[in-house]
Amino acid sequence: MSGNRFKFWLLAAGLAARFDLADFLREAAPVRFDWIFEHTLFCAINPSRRDDYVRAVKRWLKPRGQFLAVHYMIRDTDGPPFGCTQQELMERFSPHFELRQGWVPRSYPNRTGLELMLWWQRKQ
Ligand SMILES: C[S@@+](CC[C@H](N)C(=O)[O-])C[C@H]1O[C@@H](n2cnc3c(N)ncnc32)[C@H](O)[C@@H]1O
Repeated sequence: MSGNRFKFWLLAAGLAARFDLADFLREAAPVRFDWIFEHTLFCAINPSRRDDYVRAVKRWLKPRGQFLAVHYMIRDTDGPPFGCTQQELMERFSPHFELRQGWVPRSYPNRTGLELMLWWQRKQ
């Protein structure tokens, strides 16, 4: 969904929101959030920066905050998008987050069965 369409839906639903363009990996969080929801950001990031990604999620999220991510489960190494495995996701995130639920979501037709949705809760 484009940024403008997303803004339209939020306004129509009577929700207030602020949109900032930022480097998620580098920048300090303006506040710590209760929830982070991301859709295929992890796969857009070079695998050499995946430790930075995990640190960024922890930096932007409150202790015990919720982290909901849609991962693109492809094998490609010449991304973006870059592939990953479920085992890698578990190894990277489970030291810092408790897995609440994981499932294969409804996806765009060309991604059916290739996305994995993981709902984590940050440990203290
Ligand atoms: C596969 S797209 C997904 C976009 C959107 N979430 C969606 O589902 O349509 C990956 C996005 O991650 C953004 N991205 C990559 N590295 C980033 C970073 N360090 N900080 C913020 N955004 C980043 C890219 O600009 C791109 O828009």
